[in-house]
Amino acid sequence: MPSPTENRKADHIRISMQEDVQAKYITPGFENVHFVHKALPEIDREKIHLKIKVFNHEFSAPFIVGAMTGGTPKAKKINTSISEAVEELNLGMGVGSQRAAIDEPRLESTYRIVRKRAPNAFLVANIGASQLVRGYGVKEASRAVEMIEADALAIHLNPLQEAIQPEGEAQYAGVLEKIEELTQNLQIPIIAKETGAGISAEVAKRLERIKVEGVDVSGAGGTSWAAVEHHRARTANDTFHERLGRSFWDWGIPTIISIIEVSQSTKLTIIGSGGLRSGLDMAKTLALGASLTSMSTPLLRPATKSTSEVKETLKLIIEELRNTMFLVGAESIEELKKAPVMVIGKMAEWLERRGFKPEMYARR
Ligand SMILES: Cc1cc2nc3c(=O)[nH]c(=O)nc-3n(C[C@H](O)[C@H](O)[C@H](O)COP(=O)(O)O)c2cc1C
Repeated sequence: MPSPTENRKADHIRISMQEDVQAKYITPGFENVHFVHKALPEIDREKIHLKIKVFNHEFSAPFIVGAMTGGTPKAKKINTSISEAVEELNLGMGVGSQRAAIDEPRLESTYRIVRKRAPNAFLVANIGASQLVRGYGVKEASRAVEMIEADALAIHLNPLQEAIQPEGEAQYAGVLEKIEELTQNLQIPIIAKETGAGISAEVAKRLERIKVEGVDVSGAGGTSWAAVEHHRARTANDTFHERLGRSFWDWGIPTIISIIEVSQSTKLTIIGSGGLRSGLDMAKTLALGASLTSMSTPLLRPATKSTSEVKETLKLIIEELRNTMFLVGAESIEELKKAPVMVIGKMAEWLERRGFKPEMYARR
């Protein structure tokens, strides 16, 4: 019989595919970020290369498929398609929370499959901050890493979801100390990863002090976990959590604000994610200071179908990135990061209120 965790994982996949779970009144902010078009790019499009070395790994383009799943038969299929595609294209991927398999070893194969199918790709293991507070430590984190022979470990920060989900564990007291235990004892980079509500400058500085190497900002404006939990509660006739999910649907720091805050306040390696939906969004994310970019939901449906669907989707967004680079005259990702980029309107106002100055927007 499936465990409650397995059922929850299955619900998350089903709801993310069938219901509207995207932010409604908050955006990631890309509409307020603009490159300066270069009518004389002075480069040839086909000479552009997207290679980049991050976390000591060579990527063919700065992209990882964001953490989504594991722990159910459908999840195994999703993880198989994504891992085969990223192996062929030399990109990266994160697996979903490995709690299911740490608590129930019979589910390990739904995660292990990714290293089998992607022997060379950059793989990110995943455990939750609230599990750390509730008893996980170096032993469980090491098991997650070994399970997929991971290149990095993401600790997901999801206070919003824990606060809204009926079976949520909204206990975060002492979490920083627990993360520090991992940065001191594990031999691979630790990434602090939000799940759709963003990371502020203040939080990033605290993470940097305890030697976290990277942050995956996962800002607001894309997939909303409050929305996912709203739909789950509605199906269960749980009016209290249904309402909580609706009230907090658009909670969080927009993605571009989060990237700029972290990039201007720390030296952390940034993965820009949360509502990226095209290669143009990827280019903006990189120009604002991220080293890698990531999308989750846009790969979910293709992953339920086949490896080649995932590959086609990835190729398309990478071509969009290349196109943007052509139009700003950037032959490499390093040059893209130097391209002039403007932040205007609501996002500029938000930044100013937070004390960030226009001339500081890009990390040089
Ligand atoms: C079905 C689904 C399951 C997810 N599960 C996890 C998870 O287990 N761990 C995690 O860190 N993030 C998880 N996420 C969050 C994503 O990694 C990502 O941060 C978020 O969806 C925002 O990116 P997007 O707007 O491109 O979807 C999940 C997302 C989806 C859609």
